[in-house]
Order: sequence, then structure tokens, then C-alpha cells
Amino acid sequence: SDSDSQFDVAVIGGGPGGYVAAIRCAQLGLKTALVEKRKALGGTCLNVGCIPSKALLHTSEQFEFAAHNAAAAGVEIDGKVSLNLKTVMDKKDKVVKQLTGGVDMLVKKRGITRFEGHGKLLGEGKIAVDDKEALSATNIILATGSAVVDLPFLKQDGETIVSSDQAIAFDSVPENLVVIGAGAIGLELGSVWARYGSNVTVLEFLPNIAAGCDTDISKLLERSFKKQGLTIHTKTKVTGAKEIDGKLNVIAEKKGKEIAVPADKVLVAVGRKPYTDGLGLETVGITPDQRGFIEIDDHFKTSAAGIFAIGDIVRGPMLAHKAEEEGVALAEMIAGKAGHVNYDVIPNVIYTEPEVAGVGLTEAQAKEKGIAIKVGKFPLQANGRAIASDATDGVVKIIACAETDKILGGHIVAKGASEMISEIVTHMEYGGSAEDLGRTVHAHPTISEAIKEAGLAVDGAAIHSL
Ligand code: FAD
Ligand code: NAI
Repeated sequence: SDSDSQFDVAVIGGGPGGYVAAIRCAQLGLKTALVEKRKALGGTCLNVGCIPSKALLHTSEQFEFAAHNAAAAGVEIDGKVSLNLKTVMDKKDKVVKQLTGGVDMLVKKRGITRFEGHGKLLGEGKIAVDDKEALSATNIILATGSAVVDLPFLKQDGETIVSSDQAIAFDSVPENLVVIGAGAIGLELGSVWARYGSNVTVLEFLPNIAAGCDTDISKLLERSFKKQGLTIHTKTKVTGAKEIDGKLNVIAEKKGKEIAVPADKVLVAVGRKPYTDGLGLETVGITPDQRGFIEIDDHFKTSAAGIFAIGDIVRGPMLAHKAEEEGVALAEMIAGKAGHVNYDVIPNVIYTEPEVAGVGLTEAQAKEKGIAIKVGKFPLQANGRAIASDATDGVVKIIACAETDKILGGHIVAKGASEMISEIVTHMEYGGSAEDLGRTVHAHPTISEAIKEAGLAVDGAAIHSL
């Protein structure tokens, strides 16, 4: 009947933006539909992104410990340590399945109507699923996410020249892995395969790896990765690939000279682009901007009435937690409440070893904005828990306003930085100062004490460093 296909809200795309928006809409009493073309909900993040990559980072770290670091820790392993990659991949697949199954259950229990298939706008208020008119809705949320960027001179073939989609599922360890791009994907998946024994070479165009990070932090990271055996070339422009003596080589230009790096697999990790293929934007008069993003106002409204957009298809960092927050805020706005996302305090994490986490302004960004700042740093070499845990590679850096002491940014390199950053995020969310961090009691011994010390260091008052 009509009422079965008529909704208050229809969401296209079941990733962290879309499924979270749908759940929040349903919680607020709106009749909600969710259109997703994949069988499993969870989008890029759960199926081929955040979650499978973290599962591989975890198991590869265990392998690395057993293979290389166990003896020094007094763990004698009798016999050869060997890798069963099939078990590793099965475990990763099980993690993904458990989570996507969980989202499926939540969506069902919230009474959200699921449409499986490709969603396409058919003018304002109407949606086709797999080319058949299927539903109509007063409000439509576009949350179709992003797709891999290709290099024109090094086209992906899904076999040898691949994206993260394949690099989370290799069936053997490539002897030589060339990674193009030292962003989050390149560094995380480069680390995974290096731990499993690949010769990993990372080629990065910019002067620093992990480009969005504070420069001090990138430098420290680069040293740490090089110690772990990754070969990293910065200021290096990849120009193509060719066979040399019957072997594929990636060709790049570094300081005016050509370099050739042999590759069994090439991971292209040069960014992602908004994905709106076949979405029928033209039927509602929406034209994406030059880079493919859908333009929205402060209330996620597109140029078409009743149509909103969130997540990787709109401006801002392409991160799962950013998409989720936008999903919640938009659902609340549609329900007549005051939804809000604080874009100044979105943490950014790279889950390597050590982990890198940052929030707010870097030192360079603060200077660019002409803000007078004070900086406090605390190295993990002076932290008891870090020493006891073989985890002294790292630092905490706090950037505060010179005038008001308000925290403007926080940057951490540490084992567990992904968990630690939330403390700085919370202080910033409540307008906290460096002194607030320094005067907050931290359990001893914890690596988090380095955050307190960095807060104190802003005024030259760190206890355990000079
Ligand atoms: P997506 O998750 O891409 O979901 C969009 C969904 O829409 C997809 O399921 C797609 O099938 C569906 N869809 C598209 N078009 C249609 C259509 N017309 N009809 C029906 N369905 C459609 N972010 C982090 O914050 N932390 C991490 O650790 C992290 N790790 C990552 C690792 C990798 C390897 C990758 C690739 C990404 C990672 N990200 C991470 C980024 C994160 O995955 C994205 O920012 C996030 O998934 C964006 O959410 P979204 O809902 O906007 O889009
Ligand atoms: P990215 O944008 O983070 O990094 C791409 C890197 O490639 C940049 O450093 C860039 O300078 C470099 N590059 C671009 N063209 C190049 C060329 N021709 N030669 C050499 N280097 C080149 O993109 P990435 O790593 O592909 O990730 C895509 C998205 O997924 C990002 O938005 C990221 O935020 C998200 N993601 C987040 C993760 C996390 O939060 N931990 C993990 C993985 C992905």
C-alpha cells in the first residue's frame, strides 16, 4: 500500500553516516527507510575500511612480537614462528561479520525499513531502488560515501595495482610492496604488510608523511617507521610503472632523479573522492562541485528542497566519526531539535605503532592564523609506564593560546594514542585550558600522565622533564 512506501525520512547509503542518521531518526519517532546496495550495512568503514584494517593491524602486531621481539621480552619460542595468512583473514572477516550483523539487528529492532539495492533519486521526494520506483519521503538524506582515487598513469587492475579494497585481503604476503601515498591508508596497510614480511617502500609526494599532522609529529613518525624497516621516500613524485628485466617497477622522480622500485604489488593510497555515481542528482538539479562534493549549508541542506547530505560526500575530513556526528545532528534538525557538530574538535588518528592522534590546530596552523601560542611538550622517554612497556617512542604536544591558556590543539604519538586523544578532545569541547590538563589527576603509572605533563609544560612547569 501507499503507506508502506511513504516515509518521513529516507536515507541512501548505509555507512556510518547513513545508518547512524537512520537510527537517530527512528529514535526520534520518524518513519524511516534505509537504502543500501551492499548486502551488509556499515558502508566502507565496517566492510572494507576502519574495521578490517584495525583487525589486521592487531594480528600483525602479534605476529611481529612473536617473530621479532618475543625473545628480548623473555618469551622463548621453540621452533620457527610462521604465518597462517588464511587464519588471519578468516579472523578479520569474522570481526567484520559480527559488526555488520550487529548493525543489521539494530536497524531492524528500531523498525527502520531496509531496501536492498541501488538508490536513485527520481525528482524531489521520490527514490527508485534498482531502477524501480520504490519509495517516497518528505526528507531524503544522501550518505553515499566515497571511492578510491585512481592515478591516470597507473591504473588499478585489482590484481597487481590495487587499492585498500584488495590490500586488506591479499592471499599471500607480497615480497615487494610499493605504497603510493603516505596518508592513513598507506601507513596503516604498509605497516601491516611490513610486519608480515614484505619489503615495503612508501612513496610520498609531499615533504612530510602523514601530511595533516603537526610537523614535529611527522618527523618523529618517519624516524620510527624507518626503524621498523619501512623504506620511505618523501618529496617523491610517482610518474608511472614499467618492466625492468622482466619485473614490474614503479618509477618516480626524487630531487630531479628517476628512481625505480621493484613491486609485486602496488597499493595506490592517494586519497578518496566523493561517490555519487547513478544517484540521479540531475533529477533534482544538484550539481556536485569540481571535486565531486555535494554542496550543503550549515544545516546539511543541498540546493534541492527536502534533500540533505552528510559524510564523505560533503566537505570536511573523510572520517567515520565525523560522518556519524553529522548523521545524529541532521536527524535531530529534521525532528525539529537543535543538532550540532563541533568541527573544531574532530580527532584524527592513524593506527600504526606508535599511534598518531591529533585534534584542533597544529603549531603551523596556529601561526598561519596569527594566533600567539604557547607550546608544551612531554617525551615518552620520561614516562614510567612507557618505559615499563617498551613504548618510549612518542611525545605529547599541547598548543595553547598565549593570552587565555585555552587549549587550541593536542598532538600525540604513543602506543594507545587513539584512546588518549579523547581526554584532550573532551577538555577542548568544554573550553579547557592547558592548566586544566595540568591540574587534572591522572592515574599513575599511565602513558596519559604525559598529557598532564605536556599541559604543565605549556608554562614550563612539567615535573618529570626540564
Ligand atoms: P560510506 O561508509 O562509504 O558508506 C556509503 C554507503 O553507501 C556504502 O555502503 C555504499 O555501498 C552505499 N551506496 C553508495 N551509493 C549508493 C546508492 N546509490 N544506493 C544505495 N547505496 C549506495 N575512518 C575513520 O574514522 N577511522 C578509520 O580508522 C578509518 N579507516 C579507514 C580505512 C580504510 C582502508 C578506508 C578505505 C577508509 C577508512 N576510514 C576511516 C574512512 C571511513 O571509512 C569513511 O570516512 C566512512 O566510512 C564514511 O562514511 P559514509 O557513511 O559517509 O560513507
Ligand atoms: P590521504 O589523503 O590521507 O593521503 C594520501 C597521500 O597521498 C597524501 O599524503 C598525498 O600527498 C599523497 N599523494 C597524492 N598523490 C600522490 C602521488 N601522485 N604520488 C605520491 N604521493 C601522492 O588518503 P588515503 O590514505 O588514501 O586515505 C583516504 C581517506 O580515508 C582519507 O580521507 C582518510 O582520512 C581516510 N582514512 C582514515 C583512516 C584513519 O582515520 N585512521 C585510515 C584510512 C583511511
